[in-house]
Amino acid sequence: MFRCTVSLWDSDEPVPRAELLKGVEGAHGLLCLLSDRIDAEVLDAAGPNLKVISTMSVGFDHLAIDEIKKREIRVGYTPDVLTDATAELTVALLLATARRLPEGIQEVKSGGWSSWKPLWLCGYGLSGSTVGVIGLGRIGLAVARRLKPFGVKRLLYSGRQPKPQAQEVDGEYVPLDSLLCESDFVVVSCALSPETQGLCDKAFFTKMKTTAVFINTSRGAVVNQEDLYEALTAGQIAAAGLDVTTPEPLPTDHPLLALKNCVVLPHIGSATYSTRGIMAKLTANNLLAGLTGEAMPSELKL
Ligand code: GLV
Ligand code: GLV
Repeated sequence: MFRCTVSLWDSDEPVPRAELLKGVEGAHGLLCLLSDRIDAEVLDAAGPNLKVISTMSVGFDHLAIDEIKKREIRVGYTPDVLTDATAELTVALLLATARRLPEGIQEVKSGGWSSWKPLWLCGYGLSGSTVGVIGLGRIGLAVARRLKPFGVKRLLYSGRQPKPQAQEVDGEYVPLDSLLCESDFVVVSCALSPETQGLCDKAFFTKMKTTAVFINTSRGAVVNQEDLYEALTAGQIAAAGLDVTTPEPLPTDHPLLALKNCVVLPHIGSATYSTRGIMAKLTANNLLAGLTGEAMPSELKL
């Protein structure tokens, strides 16, 4: 039986940087979360023993991939197992934002509900709409699959190249500009990379319909938040729903949080009990496989 000594940060709170740098010294494997920045400093602190990094996330923008590659360290991550949970959350956030659920709940609690009124708390519906998905990957496709039965008329997507699996949702591959001009809902499902960093900026929001709803469940840094704030307050777009922000957590006095047409969630895309359990096991199995030199259940191709 394979045995290893485990040094555990036994808390739900992120490990403090100094503890991480100390704890990783001499380790052969490292299990980390997306809240841990694994860069040259951490890799140097670990030293030449380090053979494998296993992150409990599908995103890997918190890992300095170039540095990791240089040191020939293998990386495990958790794609697929969180696709359904994240897609569900994306649909929930989209509906909550478009139909103004948080505002409605607040009105009920604060006594703002005076009577049924024809135009009070009206929002936007999916039926007959055009939905644009930026990045039709595993999660983007799962979102599209779930949205179609709401009566979505057209499903547009953009990205690096057309995807054969788009056929399943009658997805039309279009340039980003057309997607932005034509969509009633714009859903960001792409990974954060140098290519997508700050993609959603002033020019991006200006191209969107003034009645359109913007949803991001990927990474906060895909969005220029100042430009988003401007778009939301100037009426360039109708509303935004974000499960990811810069920074995380978003300070409670952040201007976006004062806007009624902005719904912010605390990065809970994959947060179901069962998904988090499966992610934890997969992360551990990736780590063990990396340590014993076997094929990992989910290895990131570097
Ligand atoms: C969540 O954001 C993840 O990358 O798993
Ligand atoms: C990752 O972002 C995915 O779509 O699974």
